[in-house]
Amino acid sequence: MGKTHAVTLIPGDGIGPEVTDAVVRILEATGVRFAWERFAAGAGAFEKHGEYIPKELYASIERNRVALKGPVTTPVGGGFPSINVTLRKKFELYANFRPIRNLPGLETRYPGVDLIIIRENTEGEYVGLEHEVVPGVVESLKVITEKGSTRIAKFAFEYAAKNGRRKIHAIHKANIMKMSDGLFLRCARDVAKGYPDIVYGEHIIDNTCMQLVMNPYQYDTLLLENLYGDIVSDLCAAFVGGLGLVPGANLGAEAAIFEAVHGSAPDIAGKDIANPTALLLSAVLMLRHLDEGDAADKLQGAVEKTYTEKKTLTRDVGGRAGTRAFADAVMGAL
Ligand code: NAI
Repeated sequence: MGKTHAVTLIPGDGIGPEVTDAVVRILEATGVRFAWERFAAGAGAFEKHGEYIPKELYASIERNRVALKGPVTTPVGGGFPSINVTLRKKFELYANFRPIRNLPGLETRYPGVDLIIIRENTEGEYVGLEHEVVPGVVESLKVITEKGSTRIAKFAFEYAAKNGRRKIHAIHKANIMKMSDGLFLRCARDVAKGYPDIVYGEHIIDNTCMQLVMNPYQYDTLLLENLYGDIVSDLCAAFVGGLGLVPGANLGAEAAIFEAVHGSAPDIAGKDIANPTALLLSAVLMLRHLDEGDAADKLQGAVEKTYTEKKTLTRDVGGRAGTRAFADAVMGAL
C-alpha cells in the first residue's frame, strides 16, 4: 500500500468549496491516500476565528509543505490584503507555473496551444506598499530585486532545459520602467547565458498581448514579472477555453500550493455550474510533485476522456452538466 500524503486543503470561498469538493472526491478515487487538513481562509475564517489566515493554517503548510487551494475573494479598493498574495509571500512561493494547453476534443479559439507561463510571484506591484502622500496623491511601490529576478529566471531556464522547451521570452516594459524592468531583464539575460541551447528573446508587454492574440504559436515559455504574469495568464486562458480550464502551481524551496488561475467567480457561485477542471489539472500537477506520476497520468487521461466524449461537460465549455455531474463523469472515466 502506498504512502499517505498529508496535504493542507483550503476550500476558499465563492466557487471554491464546490470545485475543491469535486476535486477531493476525484483524487480519492485515484487510489492515492490523502490525509487532508482542511482550513478556512479569508472573510469566512475571520468570522469564525478572528483571523484571515488562522495560525493553524500556517502551521499546517509548514508541516506538510504542500497545499491544494480553492480561490479566495479579495475585497476591491480596501479591506484585508489578498490571502493568496500573503501565502505566496509568507512561504516564498516565488514561482507561479501555469501551463496553457488545449484539452483534446474541446474546440477553442486556437487549437494546439502549448504555452508555459512562469510568473514571478512575490515582488513587483504586489508587495502591497502603498500610501497617501497628500490627499489626492497616492504612491504605490513596485519592488524588483536582483535576487528575485535571478531566481525566477533560473527557475524558467531550468524548467525549460529539463522539459525540452526551446524558447524563453522575457516580457517587460523596460522602455518606460528603465530601472525596475531593466533590472529584471539584466538578470534574465545573465541567466540565459548559461543555457546556450535555449533561444532567448525579449518583448515589450503591450506588443506581447497583440502578438499573443495574432499568433500564440510564436511563443514557447514566457517569463514575466508578477503583474504582467497575472494579466497575461487570463488572456492566454481564453485561447484554450477559458479560466475554467487552466491550472497553476505556486512553487518555492520550502512549500508548494496548487491552485487554479481563476478567482472565486461570485457570479456563478453556489449554483453547481463552475468547471472544476482548472483545479483538477492543478491536482495533476500536485500528484506529480508528490511523486505519484502514475496517478497523475491516470487522472489526466480521465479528464481527457471526459472531454473527448463530450457527454458531460460544464456550461463554460458548451456543455450542460453541473460541477458534481462532471466530477462523477471523470470518476467514471478513472
Ligand atoms: P474570476 O476568475 O473569479 O472570474 C472571471 C470570470 O471567469 C467570471 O465570469 C467567472 O464566472 C468565470 N470563471 C472563473 N472560474 C470559472 C470556473 N471554474 N468555471 C466557470 N467559469 C469560471 O475573476 P474575478 O471575477 O475578477 O475575481 C473574483 C474574485 O476572485 C476577486 O475577489 C479576486 O480577487 C479573487 N481572485 C482570487 C484568486 C485566487 O484565489 N487565487 C485569483 C484571482 C482572483
